Amino acid sequence: MDDLSNGSLKNLEARRRTGKLIFVRGDVRDEALMRKVLNDYGMDYVFHHAARVSVSDSVRDRLQQRA
Ligand SMILES: NC(=O)c1ccc[n+]([C@@H]2O[C@H](COP(=O)([O-])OP(=O)(O)OC[C@H]3O[C@@H](n4cnc5c(N)ncnc54)[C@H](O)[C@@H]3O)[C@@H](O)[C@H]2O)c1
Repeated sequence: MDDLSNGSLKNLEARRRTGKLIFVRGDVRDEALMRKVLNDYGMDYVFHHAARVSVSDSVRDRLQQRA
């Protein structure tokens, strides 16, 4: 799952070609969506690497709200 705010689907092309990738565009802060995805795909673990990497963006917008 990625909201593609800083990521790109191009980076997943090789993995996508294996047919072993399920991609969901979404925000990890969306609890309802997270519950649905976890339930729909029967996941046992979540590795959370989503992050707003820009320090200046984080300082400017401390609540990390997006339009
Ligand atoms: N790249 C490194 O060498 C490195 C090293 C140590 C630690 N880290 C840490 O790992 C984390 C990620 O770094 P990165 O280099 O992979 O950054 P990155 O920007 O390449 O990846 C972060 C991803 O999170 C996505 N994202 C942001 N907010 C989201 C949200 N609310 N919901 C869903 N997706 C969201 C972005 O679109 C992006 O694809 C950061 O906390 C960074 O400090 C990175």
